[in-house]
Amino acid sequence: MPALTDTFVLSNGVHIQKLGFGTWQIPDGPDAYNATRTALDVGYRHIDTARAYGNEASIARAIRDSGIPRDDIFITTKLPAEIKDVSRAREVHAQTMAALDTDHLDLYLIHAPWPWTSIGSDHKAENIEIWKFFEELYDAGTARSIGVSNFDVDDLESLTAATDVVPHVNQIRWFIGNTQGPTTAWCKEHEILVEGYSPLATGGLLDNAEIKRIADKVGKTVAQVAIRYLLEYDVLPLPKSTTPSRIEENAAVDFELSAEDIAALDAITDTGR
Ligand SMILES: NC(=O)c1ccc[n+]([C@@H]2O[C@H](COP(=O)([O-])OP(=O)(O)OC[C@H]3O[C@@H](n4cnc5c(N)ncnc54)[C@H](OP(=O)(O)O)[C@@H]3O)[C@@H](O)[C@H]2O)c1
Repeated sequence: MPALTDTFVLSNGVHIQKLGFGTWQIPDGPDAYNATRTALDVGYRHIDTARAYGNEASIARAIRDSGIPRDDIFITTKLPAEIKDVSRAREVHAQTMAALDTDHLDLYLIHAPWPWTSIGSDHKAENIEIWKFFEELYDAGTARSIGVSNFDVDDLESLTAATDVVPHVNQIRWFIGNTQGPTTAWCKEHEILVEGYSPLATGGLLDNAEIKRIADKVGKTVAQVAIRYLLEYDVLPLPKSTTPSRIEENAAVDFELSAEDIAALDAITDTGR
């Protein structure tokens, strides 16, 4: 399926598969192992994890056991949002590399500009120092690309004004009814690929009557329409599922939405932010 193998090209020339497999809230152990194995069997080649998800080691085992060459798989992980100190960042990065059992990451992200316990608090100065550490990893080839997550325009402006490498990616919460206009526009203008996390609004979109109407019309499921919507905007979707049939369903998004259907989806605003 082309969505699984087609790529976006990052500003540094690195290719990234257009559909990633999300792994938040998949417990370490058999759940994360089996879900990742299923995703790889279906054909996903891009896995999105984070140190904070606690499942890097199971994902690494699933990748190793799949027999698929490491270089055919794009692995993203994230430095926990709470870590705003470079010496701690070095330690946690080392733990990530050991858990993922790899000598390089394909994409390493700062998970958020602020700790989850104080969303919106100002850590701009610390993020600049963390980013310089990320630039070191990038220069060394330990991370083939580097980026951020949950950064808004203000966060991006402050970071890019004080550092050399413009983030290759910004991973943000992006789905029908929550399309992050200003941040998305800023990223496009600066050649930063937008990755959309929670493309199904963590399940919140699935009962939406208007999306269902369009899905029925085009002969697809609500999840497929919701995921396809991101691709229509060149935003990289990261759907998560532990259900094998849904893992497969979410990858079958090689269809196009008409301008009329996209306009109808654009008009939906009640998706519960
Ligand atoms: N950077 C960040 O701060 C951040 C934050 C949140 C998420 N993320 C990333 O984005 C990924 C996806 O976001 P998300 O986990 O919030 O959720 P999501 O992909 O928007 O939705 C997942 C939920 O929808 C269900 N589901 C999936 N496919 C379905 C289908 N075809 N039909 C019906 N139900 C379906 C799943 O259930 P089952 O699993 O039971 O099938 C699960 O409950 C995460 O896993 C993570 O990798 C990043």
